[in-house]
Amino acid sequence: TKLSILSVPFGLGAGHPGSEQAPGHLFQLGLLQSLQQHGCKVDELKLIGSSGIPSPAIQVPMKHSSEVIKTGIALAGAVKAAVSAGNFPFILGGDHSLAMGTLAGLTAQYRRLGVIWIDAHADMNTELTSPSGNMHGIPLAVAQGRAQLSLSHLWPGAGTVAPGNIVLIGARDLDSAEEALIRSEGITCFGMADIRRMGMDGVVAEALRIAGAAADGIHLSFDIDSIDPSEAPGTGTPVQHGLTSDEARQALLLLGRSDQITSAEFVEVNPLLDRADQTAILALELIELFLKSL
Ligand code: ARG
Ligand code: MN
Ligand code: MN
Ligand code: MN
Repeated sequence: TKLSILSVPFGLGAGHPGSEQAPGHLFQLGLLQSLQQHGCKVDELKLIGSSGIPSPAIQVPMKHSSEVIKTGIALAGAVKAAVSAGNFPFILGGDHSLAMGTLAGLTAQYRRLGVIWIDAHADMNTELTSPSGNMHGIPLAVAQGRAQLSLSHLWPGAGTVAPGNIVLIGARDLDSAEEALIRSEGITCFGMADIRRMGMDGVVAEALRIAGAAADGIHLSFDIDSIDPSEAPGTGTPVQHGLTSDEARQALLLLGRSDQITSAEFVEVNPLLDRADQTAILALELIELFLKSL
């Protein structure tokens, strides 16, 4: 696997400053050297800033929406280029709002894209239902064409993600509008009770089957707040009773080895909220484990 590592030091979609420091911090902790030691081929390393002027027609009433959109435009182009070059795009955030850029680039390339979203949250609010006004809470509604902002605003030629190809893993803090959308669209959601009942191996097998149905690619979006705050405290919206680090390891290893995942992103590590780098060090280990299993 030839990797395109896209570093996105952007955190304005989150409610707390700090996630923009995650890529730099993980590089400082030796991410690239250890990927090389593990035999991962990094074909491209690209720093994504913000570019383009969002058209006034797509301003949405959310915090820092125009910065989020500009970053999404830059990221979408880089993701699309990486896929056309035959590389595996790995996006290192940053907050989860950047997933809109990732998904815009991917849906411009894939005919039908599956998405596996490992997260304490569903990130399926719209501009109208968001309780926080934070852009990191809306990417999966945008991807479905359910929000004012759409993926095609970020990249002409971007499509949508069909709800039947979306699988949530670890969700345990859903807002009522998100619950309603999940129910009405029949979106698959494996909560903590399902994970403990089926085992992570059973959940991952089902997730790959559902996300991959008739799809020509599956994107993995991994939000570090999926893991319990006792093991991953360094994140802006921690939620109790999450995955153990072992469950996260198991999920990432099985997904990596499946040969079905065609792109991935890792988001929401916040070095400013961390305790003695506990979360950053765990994130580093998980990223290595996943990328070398591809
Ligand atoms: N549901 C809440 C909101 O809309 C929290 C979202 C948290 N998202 C995240 N990517 N950490 O604001
Ligand atoms: Mn998220
Ligand atoms: Mn989350
Ligand atoms: Mn493989």
